[in-house]
Amino acid sequence: MRHILAPALLPALLLVTVPALAQPDRLAPRQRLDFNDGWRFHLGDPGNNSAPYLYDVLPKIEQSADGKVADAMPEAAARVDGAKVAVLKPWILPSGNAFIKEPARRHSRPAQDPAVDAPYAQAGFDDRAWRAVRLPHDWAIEGPFLTSGPYGGMGRLKTWGPAWYRKTLAVAAADRGKSVFLDVDGAMAYASVWVNGRLAGGWPYGYNGFRIDLTPWLRSGANQLAIRLDNTPESARWYPGAGLYRNVWLTKTAPLHVGHWGVRIATPEVSRAKARVAWQVTLDNAGSTAADADVGTELFALDAQGRIDGAAVARATSPRTTVAAGASATIAGDAVLANPRLWGPRPTQTPHRYLAVTTVRQNGQVVDRYETPFGIRTVRFDAQLGLLVNGERVPIRGVNNHHDLGALGAAFNRRAAERQLELLQEMGANALRVSHNPPDPQLLDLADRMGVLVMDEVFDSWQRKKTPLDFHLIFPDWHEQDLRAMIRRDRNHPSIIMWGAGNEVGEQYTGEEGATIGRELVRIAHEEDPTRPVTTAMNWAKADMPLPGTIDVISLNYQGSGIRTLPGQFPAFHAAHPGKAILHTESASALSSRGEYQFPVPGVTSAAVRPGAGGDPATRQVSAYELFAADFGSSADRAFAALDQHPYTAGEFVWTGFDYLGEPTPYYEARSSYSGILDLAGFKKDRYYLYQSRWRPELPMAHILPHWTWPERVGQVTPVHVFTSGDEAELFVNGKSQGRQKKAPYAYRLRWDYVNYEPGELTVVAYKDGKEWARSSVRTAGDASALQANADRSSIAADGRDLSFITVRIVDKDGIDVPRAKQRVRFTVEGPGELVATDNGDPTSFESFQSPERAAFNGLVLGIVRGRPGASGSIRVRVDAEGLRPAMLTVSASADTPASR
Ligand code: GAL
Repeated sequence: MRHILAPALLPALLLVTVPALAQPDRLAPRQRLDFNDGWRFHLGDPGNNSAPYLYDVLPKIEQSADGKVADAMPEAAARVDGAKVAVLKPWILPSGNAFIKEPARRHSRPAQDPAVDAPYAQAGFDDRAWRAVRLPHDWAIEGPFLTSGPYGGMGRLKTWGPAWYRKTLAVAAADRGKSVFLDVDGAMAYASVWVNGRLAGGWPYGYNGFRIDLTPWLRSGANQLAIRLDNTPESARWYPGAGLYRNVWLTKTAPLHVGHWGVRIATPEVSRAKARVAWQVTLDNAGSTAADADVGTELFALDAQGRIDGAAVARATSPRTTVAAGASATIAGDAVLANPRLWGPRPTQTPHRYLAVTTVRQNGQVVDRYETPFGIRTVRFDAQLGLLVNGERVPIRGVNNHHDLGALGAAFNRRAAERQLELLQEMGANALRVSHNPPDPQLLDLADRMGVLVMDEVFDSWQRKKTPLDFHLIFPDWHEQDLRAMIRRDRNHPSIIMWGAGNEVGEQYTGEEGATIGRELVRIAHEEDPTRPVTTAMNWAKADMPLPGTIDVISLNYQGSGIRTLPGQFPAFHAAHPGKAILHTESASALSSRGEYQFPVPGVTSAAVRPGAGGDPATRQVSAYELFAADFGSSADRAFAALDQHPYTAGEFVWTGFDYLGEPTPYYEARSSYSGILDLAGFKKDRYYLYQSRWRPELPMAHILPHWTWPERVGQVTPVHVFTSGDEAELFVNGKSQGRQKKAPYAYRLRWDYVNYEPGELTVVAYKDGKEWARSSVRTAGDASALQANADRSSIAADGRDLSFITVRIVDKDGIDVPRAKQRVRFTVEGPGELVATDNGDPTSFESFQSPERAAFNGLVLGIVRGRPGASGSIRVRVDAEGLRPAMLTVSASADTPASR
């Protein structure tokens, strides 16, 4: 939960809390402290001992997952050998007890500590030589890129091996009697948390947030915290990142307090006239005597910035409840609001939010205050109409994204994520599938605020494995905890429209046995949240198989449009599951490298990449004509046609919005994928405009490809394709018409496949309903002459986190983009800021992301700049390249500039 310190509320808080307290320190309401600064970091265990202890014994990797096709059948788990190595599992399992429903299945901590030697966890260890880091931190993004395989889908940055983080924690006298929790939003992976040399707990799955109760382990004065992470190789199909890559918090509460993710809000009745808001509050009493709790709830409207807007719109107090010592109690309440401001997705609706403030009083004194943002909306999936939000039919125009933020790696950065969502919204996207794991909670906050629909997904594998050491190893012990943890954390976000329990899991292939696991996950999800449907994305299970029968919404990966030579499966599923909505949880998997056009261009609308037809194995680039796809996938155009031919479908999540690190199908030697609509640097590929033409039909636009600077192609056939929201267009080469064309049914691009190249100007004039609608031109560039630099934001917050993304273009003397320029560009940053990373979007580039100098890729380079914490002023950025006129700009960093949303 985020804490919103709304200025409007502050005086009230002070009035209620401070004067009334006899012992203000002991009973003061919770503190949630940013715990990201002051860590020391070290890669490896003492003496480089590779495995002094493990979470659990691992199976031997008999066959690497390197080079496996993405849709290969997952296999049965390998048997684990009985190697003698100390395992920490019995001490870690109890950390998940709060998420195990059946008390008998919860875990007790062994009586003795584990018999392991952990010098890095000891208070006396001198870590001054370790590197000082500020979280979130992804140690793997620094590389270097690996030069020999096997790489597998995890890519060419080494993410595996043990790593340690240490930090001291002072416990003041005022903290006596309080509960103290370490709240980790995500640690990659197999975290074990040590306090003063003793193992306090941990959490294996790297994508979930978790809480460790530090209270029993702390002593007055200085305490030594140490977190060991132990990423395994061959544990993922993409780049997982490494380290404490999300925020870490220290939460202090009174003994009687709202439990972890302890407020759940639902809106069981919603209309424009009124809404019923119902809440459940779980109280934990960590004290040694029973406590009488009075729980009050106030609801406030929030403005677009997340500030409280006006007086409370509802107030309720629950009858006094006694919570036994060491026990929990759940208190329910509700309120009716007149004329609620509904939450809804952009662009047709507005994402209004509310805040519930839960106040816990004991003996008349406030002992806890807990804030929960939420939204009021209805979401319904319908077998004929697809998705309805607040009664409006909203076609899902979504993308899949992995969690890495390109050059920044997996370390979460709010502005980088916000920029991604902004670019997607500009394209017309209204939805995001967080493939295939729980995201950073801030991403969900952004989605709530920006009005983006989210499919929140928990697992990529269940009991069967996709890679030798993936989640299947811990699925039996942890699936319940991980699924409940995700839903408890996320269920108040109005942006979330459904839960994903799995992606292309091996249990598609195991009939009833697999369906039994599917049913269990759906049951758990419904217990945690009866308001949202649960699904599992299927690329293989057919309509008459058991697995689809277990889920609420039918989610097809690729199968809807048809995989390879198989016919599209929408009609078969629609007929076999007439009551269930259907969507494309993954569509397309179209591949391209930005700005890389290859010839000849086949006359098809969709084709697998083959040498000389879409792909060039020598350069490892995929043609940007946007006709090519993974073997099991299809071009954007083909997926559009499949959806339009079956109008009952709820829409699509395209694979993927952005290129991501790892899984570089079809050239596994590359560093990053080719499937993004935008490249790894966030530069738009041509495909961006194909989606925009469909998803923003009201926006007059026309986009031409390829570029028009082909000195070696004079007189040769050079096909020209146009993406437009119009229905017809005429193309001109140096003023000569190449003909006017109309979009055919189920065709989404206009193409002039027989244009002979001559230098000059290409112009397209697009029409809609016979009237001119949009026009655009592309001109032949001369020699590279200058750099142009543009910052996406020229004012940033001086908090050391906010970012400015600087796009550098190489242009000729007239300012025309030089499309294939690859000059080396150098950034110099002066003043109160620093260069964080650079990129160019080339999937084959192995230049370090931290390098201030890098070659342009097809005319573009990206530099990412941030301010130094607390330092205001003008950050001066200079960009140089040999023989080109440099570019300069300033970004002002100020304490007054709000960070991103
Ligand atoms: C799918 C899979 C995704 C990704 C994609 C690659 O089969 O669900 O995670 O691997 O293929 O195109």
